[in-house]
Amino acid sequence: MTDGYKRDDGRTPNMLRELKMNVGVLNNADGSAYVECGNNKIIVGVYGPRKLHSKKHSKIDGAVLRCKYNMAPFSVTERKRPGTDRRSTEISKLISEAITPAIFLEKYPRSSIDVSIEVLEADGGTRCLGIVATSLALADAEIPMRDLISACAVGKVDGEIVLDLSEAEDQKGEADMPVAMMPRTNEITLIQMDGHLTQNEFVEALDLAYSGCNYINKLQKETILKKYGGA
Ligand code: CDP
Repeated sequence: MTDGYKRDDGRTPNMLRELKMNVGVLNNADGSAYVECGNNKIIVGVYGPRKLHSKKHSKIDGAVLRCKYNMAPFSVTERKRPGTDRRSTEISKLISEAITPAIFLEKYPRSSIDVSIEVLEADGGTRCLGIVATSLALADAEIPMRDLISACAVGKVDGEIVLDLSEAEDQKGEADMPVAMMPRTNEITLIQMDGHLTQNEFVEALDLAYSGCNYINKLQKETILKKYGGA
């Protein structure tokens, strides 16, 4: 890491954007969360667990977690066409897969847990922030979990390994690597890579992702404790 390298928004390489988190923000959902990270704004609502009547869609040995990621038309500078597209289908699937290892799904056979992830404003890193917000909303819905899953992207911009890329950095950067993990066990539940890193850069980036996720995990826990006592 080059000493004194400053990013376009003034951050040092290992800085996250400013994070704000809140839970219990929706009255009609079983659990909810609102999270901001820089210019990203995401709200998540959880419905369930509730019994599924369809045998085709349910599982006898546990609940099915169904996450749906959606970008509002006004969330990006160029109007996003409403509705599902390939990108949102992929992100919905990977958010479900990143969160599933944390949940005691076996407690709810033949049930579903439905999660709506609404991106109100996007500025790079929304899949990671969606994971952070989903974990919080599931905890708010009192769904038993092994840990809160935390996530952040790392990457390479101007030859520097950096944490939490903005959209501008993602566009001009050489690599973008979203990572989700369960800090209690260090288990990685999502890792993707767009671009190229050498082996040494990959190790450095993963280390940075671990520290970012650990910091975010602390904030997630503080947010829950603030709402439900203990902090
Ligand atoms: O948001 P994330 O980095 O997880 O996903 P991405 O597919 O790498 O998108 C990066 C960024 O591109 C998003 O966060 C948005 O700011 C922007 N984007 C956009 O402007 N219009 C879209 N239809 C999709 C993404």
